Amino acid sequence: MHDPARYDKVAMLLHWSIALLVIGMLALGYWMVGIPKGTPDRAVYFNLHKSFGVLAGVLIIVRLLWRVTHRPPALPASMAAWNIKAAQGGHLLLYVLMLLQPLTGYLSSSFNKYGVRFFGLQLPRWAAEDAGLRDNLMQYHKLLALVFAVLIAVHVLAAIRHIWFDRRHMARRMWP
Ligand code: HEM
Ligand code: HEM
Repeated sequence: MHDPARYDKVAMLLHWSIALLVIGMLALGYWMVGIPKGTPDRAVYFNLHKSFGVLAGVLIIVRLLWRVTHRPPALPASMAAWNIKAAQGGHLLLYVLMLLQPLTGYLSSSFNKYGVRFFGLQLPRWAAEDAGLRDNLMQYHKLLALVFAVLIAVHVLAAIRHIWFDRRHMARRMWP
């Protein structure tokens, strides 16, 4: 039976697989841009980043659809109003970034001369090469990545706070 005080199994599976993917993608993104230009390694890791990024984007869309059709567990009545607002606002922002991060990456790459490959499969090209648009969208991709990383750090600290300092064990709501 599903415990009404916790997220359902699908929500948990999506939360943890996307968390792993997004944290891995941030690390891969910051690491790969240091690979010297013109080396074959650079193309390999850029394509890996694009492939896992598209995969993350698809899972994120599934997660959003699941989220709007499935109510999350109610919060305990003892929770302070500011804390509820902070949690809900923070989660909303995380969803916005989860959408915009792969979207800006995909759009930017659609305007470069290589297009986007998904694990070797060339995705349909719908845009002509446009260096201006590519660079512009990439600026947003880079700025958002920074905001995303900070927000995730705050989110993880908030979770740790619940694990260590709460008798309510709030973090169990998302733990399988
Ligand atoms: C969860 C999804 C994603 C995350 C967290 C992410 C994160 C990052 C990060 C941290 C960087 C390095 C930023 C910097 O240099 O300051 C980066 C660069 C890049 N990302 Fe993503 N990314 C995601 C999805 C995508 C997707 C879907 C694509 C394309 C299909 C993409 C294409 C790129 C490209 C081409 C660069 C390198 C830009 C350059 O320096 O030339 N990303 N990404
Ligand atoms: C080790 C890393 C992480 C931990 C320990 C963690 C922990 C948690 C916990 C305990 C909750 C449940 C909050 C509640 O009881 O209401 C939660 C919810 C959530 N987490 Fe994480 N999380 C992590 C990584 C991430 C990442 C990387 C993202 C974004 C990509 C993320 C996005 C979210 C969102 C959006 C919710 C709200 C779910 C909803 O109500 O729709 N989490 N997280």
